[in-house]
This record gives sequence, structure tokens and C-alpha cells, in this order.
Amino acid sequence: MSKIVIYPGTFDPITFGHLDVIQRAADLFDKVVVAVLENAAKTPLFTMDERVDLIKKAVENFSNVEVDIFHGLLIDYAKSKNAIAIIRGLRAISDFEYEFQMALMNRKISEGITTVFLMPHEKYTYLNSTIVRELARLQADVSDFVPKFVVDKLTNKFKKA
Ligand code: PNS
Repeated sequence: MSKIVIYPGTFDPITFGHLDVIQRAADLFDKVVVAVLENAAKTPLFTMDERVDLIKKAVENFSNVEVDIFHGLLIDYAKSKNAIAIIRGLRAISDFEYEFQMALMNRKISEGITTVFLMPHEKYTYLNSTIVRELARLQADVSDFVPKFVVDKLTNKFKKA
């Protein structure tokens, strides 16, 4: 049976840290579904279409990675995809408490789906989408943190009027 894993998130936008986790997951599982949360409570910088397009571009060289949108409970979505696991990246101890709580709650909802934590390369320890957006807004160079086509999109978003 094919081992399918879900990598859920907001991906606003996708970073090299996310891509490092995707690479590790793609090496371990038969199929990785990068699942972008549709969340009315959040106002992301990038629209859903933009986020999905950027991720698709970023993963185009992976043969076993696909990109999808989900809403509602992650566990319900994971079941609908016949996934056996959920991937989350852990960069630092500060991530742990929130991730631990979410993983245990997801396990309480469904024993059958395991959360697997993967650590991206330590050079990405300090990296997240919020910081990338903030740097780009302040016209700083973010090319070490996101692919070129994401840099271009960010530049466009924050172009001075
Ligand atoms: O990239 P993020 O914003 O850290 O991802 C958070 C995400 C999407 C994994 C989380 O908010 C989520 O799973 N939301 C779906 C709703 C859900 O299942 N909530 C219960 C989690 S215990």
C-alpha cells in the first residue's frame, strides 16, 4: 500500500525551510501532499491561488509531491486522502509546545494518523514566512530564504507606489 503523508500549512509564502522539509518527507514516503489551509480567520498576504501556484512551481521537480487545498479539520482531510501521517517541521524548542499540543489533539481525534516531526537543516532554524514577509515589506533582500519566483512576487506585492 502506498504511504501517503500530508504536509499542511499556510505557506504564506513557501520558503526554503518548507522545501527542506518537503525534500525529507519525499525521501521517506511514497507520496507527499502539500495541503494549504483555506482559513477565513486569517488574512494572508498571498491569495490561495498565488500560494498554490508558488508551491507548485517550487515542487515541480519532485515526482511524488502534489499540492492541494483543504479546509476544516486536518484529520478529516488526511483521512479523505488515505494518509497515514502528517508532517510538521520543528525548527527550535519554541515550536515544540504548539506542535506537541496540535499533534496530541490530532491523535486524540484519530489514533490512526501519526504526526511525524522533521527538522529542517539548521541553517533554516530562524526562518519563517512571517519574517520573510516582514523583511520583504521593508525592502530587504530575501533571496537566501525563498526561491527567485517568490522573491519576485514579494517584490511586486511591496512595490512602492
Ligand atoms: O503553517 P501553519 O499556519 O503553522 O499551519 C497550521 C495548520 C494548518 C497545520 C493548522 O492550523 C491546522 O491543522 N488547521 C486545520 C484545523 C484543524 O484541524 N485544527 C485542529 C488542530 S489540533
